[in-house]
Amino acid sequence: MKEWTREERYRVLHSAQEIEGLHEQIVHSVYRQRFHVQPVTGLSSDPNGFGYHNGLWHLYYQWCPWGAVHGLKYWYHVTSEDLLHWKNAGVGMHPDTYFDNRGCHSGSAFSDGEELYLFYTGNHRDEDWTRTPYTCAARLGADGKAVKLPQPLFGPRDDYSEHQRDPKIVYVPEKGKYYIFIGAQNLELKGRALMYESESLLEGWKFAGELKVPGFEDFGGMWECPCIVRISGKDVLIFSPQYTKLPGRGESTNHNIYLVGSMDYDTLTFTPEGGYQFLDFGFDFYAAQFAANVSDPDKAILIAWIGLPDNHYCTEPEDWEGSMTVVRELRLKDGRLVQSPVQALASLREAPAPTDGTLPDVCEVLAEASGGGFDLNFFTKADGTGGFTCHYDGERSVLVVDRRGMDNRFNQNVGEVLEVPVPGGVRNVRALIDRCSIELFINDGEAAFTSHVYPTADEHHYTVSQGAEVTIYPLKPSVVDDFVV
Ligand code: FRU
Repeated sequence: MKEWTREERYRVLHSAQEIEGLHEQIVHSVYRQRFHVQPVTGLSSDPNGFGYHNGLWHLYYQWCPWGAVHGLKYWYHVTSEDLLHWKNAGVGMHPDTYFDNRGCHSGSAFSDGEELYLFYTGNHRDEDWTRTPYTCAARLGADGKAVKLPQPLFGPRDDYSEHQRDPKIVYVPEKGKYYIFIGAQNLELKGRALMYESESLLEGWKFAGELKVPGFEDFGGMWECPCIVRISGKDVLIFSPQYTKLPGRGESTNHNIYLVGSMDYDTLTFTPEGGYQFLDFGFDFYAAQFAANVSDPDKAILIAWIGLPDNHYCTEPEDWEGSMTVVRELRLKDGRLVQSPVQALASLREAPAPTDGTLPDVCEVLAEASGGGFDLNFFTKADGTGGFTCHYDGERSVLVVDRRGMDNRFNQNVGEVLEVPVPGGVRNVRALIDRCSIELFINDGEAAFTSHVYPTADEHHYTVSQGAEVTIYPLKPSVVDDFVV
């Protein structure tokens, strides 16, 4: 693994030419994605600034241009008309002010109909590397570049640690106010969310208080990327708790959970109606964000990073890694989120491939179980051995997903086997397979499972248990791997 010096990681990008060669090098990788947003070069991590504005969906991702490493972060901009075909639009925001001198960190977007506003964390560091996070704002300029406000909306509080970031902006009509949720860590090193309020988008922000979430006072050491949405009359709060292990998540200390309940902006209390639930049960899913400016009150739109902090992926030696999930539509059913890939995805389907045990490298697999046992093994060798296996354990009502059989193994320290609870058994599985990822939607989206996977040339086969019916659609590409910076 390459060792990066701080200087290399935090190098400022002055011109597109500096990374053109890198793009040419990676574009030929067998793992470049065909229907997932991926970094133009280097590393992509959290989705940022996701929302609908003036007829177009906007999305940004945390971007480090230089390689598969977390360093100086930019916002890279992509746009789409249908949440499926994404166009590279170039660097959306540069870290070029005092307040964000060491990175434009994560944040969210909000359209007032006229302008698209971007709210982000300016990651300031002094010479001695002391960090001061500022909550900053910008608007999308006519040339597609962010026009930043000269001053931050507010700075950090000194009664919390330096970990205060990832503004999520919402408008609450009943209060006639905007609120910003900030992911934070208190001085006892517990994860928290902080709330700020204002009657106006770009000024007058004041600290409202800490978000109270009864029962979650001791739940991880930092809550990254808090986000909230209203679906079918309920509030859904998501965040990525860190520095803690959670049952069912192996050795991982990075998670993404959701709570269904009600948010009271008078008392700043989110009252959950049940326990926490995993947004996704997979190995590599983090920093999910709901899209802003969605008009359907019964549906939310979500995207996340396929990857985890502090983890390492097989394309690192090629100097790039990370991608976004496929955009998901979320509905609420009996207090749980039901997730499905954005509807437009079906338009990528080619004529079904023969179900002869070979797996196209970019495809969608639909499997209908026949009741009883269920095994579906992806990326096996031609003789059916190895692979990324999904086995239903009927005694425990869990789907056991095991990636130990792959030739390219990674993040073994975090764990290579995870389980998805499927009370009542597996009825169906829908798998989206791109060149370095797999997303499973189990039982019509009642559970989702996302993972990176790096099959070798020999690993393009599958096996399925008897009785189960499989349909395989090769998929057309929906992203263009062009060099736009
Ligand atoms: C989550 C995160 C955010 C931060 C960003 C920096 O992955 O750590 O909290 O804003 O990444 O890239």
